[in-house]
Amino acid sequence: MSSTSPAPTRTRPATIRRFTGVQRLLHLILTITFLGMLWTGLCLWSPALAEVMNRPLAKQWHFYSAIALGVAFVLILVLRPRDVRAFASAVDQLDRADRAWLRGGPRRLFSHVGAPEQGWLNAGQKLNTAITIGLLIVLTGTGLLLWIGERNTAFRFAGTVDVHDLATILIVLLVSGHLYLAIFNPSTRASLSGMTNGSVDREWARANHRRWVEECEAQEPDDRS
Ligand code: HEM
Repeated sequence: MSSTSPAPTRTRPATIRRFTGVQRLLHLILTITFLGMLWTGLCLWSPALAEVMNRPLAKQWHFYSAIALGVAFVLILVLRPRDVRAFASAVDQLDRADRAWLRGGPRRLFSHVGAPEQGWLNAGQKLNTAITIGLLIVLTGTGLLLWIGERNTAFRFAGTVDVHDLATILIVLLVSGHLYLAIFNPSTRASLSGMTNGSVDREWARANHRRWVEECEAQEPDDRS
């Protein structure tokens, strides 16, 4: 009988890198400009809040926030096309595991136990990203029409304000759910450190995004000890 030494175990850091600096910066700009547009939009909508920030000032900052977000998107698109392409390809397909994840989604809202293995983003996050981008496009389009319409009556259309308001309500609902999951929900709030310092707990990531963790680990240098 031959005596064999125990198989070497691979030691890995307790955390795993989830978001790059560029991704976190874009998310921060999105958050700041979103809150800026929401606050100034509320001041334009509510007479009570118009006393806190008058309409001309609120309109000016509403417009500046939208421009800042648009400029940030375009800059990142131009300066980091590879990051944008990588993010788009992570979001733009729902594979079989995603569809299985969605089917059991409502049941697992508060616990990921039994969820099919997911990649870097789970199916819910892919949908959140796609719907958020869609709503931002609708808000930008209708916002531009409102702005141009104030200067040229040929661009005034009945219903533009209603579509702008409806898209606002939908995105506020979506972001509220997103904040709940990122900050309060026990099974998902470990994701928050990914947006603050870039890394998340490896075992949490393995439980929630196993396919992605395995892909990363396959590319990590062999550090068997
Ligand atoms: C203080 C406010 C916010 C916090 C704490 C927050 C937190 C987070 C966290 C932790 C993630 C990464 C989740 C993961 O590990 O996969 C994330 C991703 C994301 N966030 Fe936020 N977020 C905030 C505001 C916003 C706003 C205002 C928007 C959109 C208007 C937004 C849109 C997104 C999108 C599209 C993603 C990628 C997909 C996803 O994870 O759902 N976030 N956010």
